[in-house]
Amino acid sequence: MPESITITDNRNGQSIEIPIVEGGVNSAEWSKLLPGLWFYDPGFSATAECESAISFIDGDAGVLQYRGYPIEQLAERSTYLEVAYLLLKGELPTAAELEDFVGQVTIHTFIHENVKRFLEGFHYDAHPMGMLVSELAALSTFYPDAKRIDDPEIRWGHTVRLIAKMPTLAAATHRFCSGMPFVYPNNALSFPENFLSMMWKMSEPAYEANPALVRAIELLFILHADHEQNCSTTTMRVVGSAHADPYSACAAATAALYGPRHGGANEAVLRMLTSIGSLDNVPDFVRSVKEGHGRLQGFGHRVYKNYDPRAKIIRQAAYDVFAVTGKNPLLDIALKLEETALADDYFISRRLYPNVDFYSGLIYQAMGFPVSMFPVLFAIPRTAGWLAHWNEMLDHKTKIARPRQLYSGAPRRDYVPIGERS
Ligand code: CMC
Repeated sequence: MPESITITDNRNGQSIEIPIVEGGVNSAEWSKLLPGLWFYDPGFSATAECESAISFIDGDAGVLQYRGYPIEQLAERSTYLEVAYLLLKGELPTAAELEDFVGQVTIHTFIHENVKRFLEGFHYDAHPMGMLVSELAALSTFYPDAKRIDDPEIRWGHTVRLIAKMPTLAAATHRFCSGMPFVYPNNALSFPENFLSMMWKMSEPAYEANPALVRAIELLFILHADHEQNCSTTTMRVVGSAHADPYSACAAATAALYGPRHGGANEAVLRMLTSIGSLDNVPDFVRSVKEGHGRLQGFGHRVYKNYDPRAKIIRQAAYDVFAVTGKNPLLDIALKLEETALADDYFISRRLYPNVDFYSGLIYQAMGFPVSMFPVLFAIPRTAGWLAHWNEMLDHKTKIARPRQLYSGAPRRDYVPIGERS
């Protein structure tokens, strides 16, 4: 059977055969037959925006792979920085390569003192995600050479800097919001330990994190590192396609991640569970969702029509964290909500399952993170994915993103002076 489709323009009987390559059809071929006739695809549900070799999802089977490696294996055996290397370079590092990469990241954890001073301009109750967006955008002014995106060495330097500085920026927002002094990075610590130290250190000479909590952060960072063409990664690619510097593009991607339909969902889940309040209220809450009053946060996904594999891993990991912190009292409500929804025809027929955000917030809360920090915790590791896609997009010499539209506004009309308008 030929691997192609044939399209016939019924207005004139002309046909064109378009080959199917890697499961897609090339729009350039379509445009040869039908110039000026655009695909109408709001939300890009049926559009492959790019060719990418970074992560693979089979939404029906509930499969996620980074560079071919199953997420379950990476979650169990890898570290966030090893995964970041894998995403960026395409292969797992050798021991020497990993040591070198970790060293590069470690020496770039500090931020310019002036960045700290920006924070002082924010209101005391500013959302940390809004602060993070601003800090990232501001960083672009500190590194004018970051604009030289055609120089691979410079590009790599800023890729490393961004990965290294995200935990420092993230912890700085928290310290500011809590009225606590900024904690400088401790480069003797591992990536997740250093982040926890910058978050929680008080007057002790060195902060010692519980190893189970360090592992939980490592795991959550691995699971959130990449997820192919999600909203924020697409933003990164779109802004990057205009050849903006990576700090500006990361600021834009962070802004996209802030939305409650995307990275803000973990925060929304916790607020939802808190508002449900008790097991008795679960059936009424599910009924109200089915009647169209809001969504079941942390459920549903554009691509997964099965259990999100990351949610499975996080659900299990939650118990390791609760063994140290004590059980999050909202866990029972979450479990009951999941059980009720998965047995309900509304959710079954729409193939709505828990996604990565359904359980992650419970862990973060048990570890003491304020709810407003949850999307920030997502942004730290997703930076590796954003930068892998940004580099890939530039390597592919991608054109500037510039979609078309179907115009549905007024036809041409003449300007009416203000006094003559009805
Ligand atoms: N609760 C109740 N109904 C839902 C939900 C939900 N969470 N998600 C989808 N639906 C319904 C929706 O109302 C629609 O029903 P109908 O066909 O009767 O109109 C149907 O399912 C299809 O929904 P959709 O909005 O067309 O699906 P989408 O692919 O555009 O949206 C989504 C995907 C993730 C935005 C959506 O499922 C959602 O809003 N979920 C809650 C927020 C959330 O958990 N987001 C995190 C996503 S995973 C992490 C990340 O990407 O950042």
